[in-house]
Amino acid sequence: MKKRVFLRDLQNSKGGEKIVMITAYDALFASLFDPHVDAILVGDSLNMSFAGKPDTLSATMDQMIYHTQAVCQGAKESYIICDMPFGSYTNCDEALKNATRVYQETEADAVKLEGGRYRADIIKHLTQNEIAVIGHIGLKPQSARSEGGYYVKGKTQEEKESLLEDALSIQDAGAVALVIEGVKPDIAEEITNKLTIPTIGIGAGAETDGQVLVWSDMLGFFDTFVPKFVKHYMSGSKEVQEAVKQYAKEVKNSSFPEPKHTY
Ligand code: KIV
Repeated sequence: MKKRVFLRDLQNSKGGEKIVMITAYDALFASLFDPHVDAILVGDSLNMSFAGKPDTLSATMDQMIYHTQAVCQGAKESYIICDMPFGSYTNCDEALKNATRVYQETEADAVKLEGGRYRADIIKHLTQNEIAVIGHIGLKPQSARSEGGYYVKGKTQEEKESLLEDALSIQDAGAVALVIEGVKPDIAEEITNKLTIPTIGIGAGAETDGQVLVWSDMLGFFDTFVPKFVKHYMSGSKEVQEAVKQYAKEVKNSSFPEPKHTY
């Protein structure tokens, strides 16, 4: 398997064929997604979907590197992005030290970090040091605790103007793409039209240059709360539980293993 998606491919998709991004946290699922997607994000959402924590804040740099290594083992074709966890990019030096670890210890193509124009100096510092950076604006999960919850952004004219200013300054700082999460579709569309870098939406309508979903949401493994922007492409949780229930039943009643499963 050879690399199929490079930065130039994502950039050339601007305004053209949509970019397909999904999260993955391990080699097995990454290998299943790899042939069908353009990009795989090792999101710090792993702290919730993989580690069962209430938010993303306690994910560490070591954990992100470990999971990115695993994803890079499983996915050889897609463009791979490692999320910078909360607290790993509070200043330029810290951000460069941690992003350099990502490049040196994994095969990720880019890092992603959350924040608007107040992060422009950090994004610029990373890009000037040959690290590809993807921005992330709108609903920023790492701000959920300080903001007291997860809120859709871009509902007022003031918020829309602020989001546009954020997007432009992230682009000016050298970001190669921008994730726009949880915003009204009109502002996601306006940002997409004004930027020259590709935008990837999640809960941001259909007019961004691409879409990203958290894999366990998209495959229906997480069904206790289903956000409006999530579509289930299978009933993962139900199907897994039915299969495990059947396995347990067959072990209990000794119908598994059969002779054909026995050496
Ligand atoms: O951590 C993550 O999975 C993300 C996506 C929701 C964009 O940042």
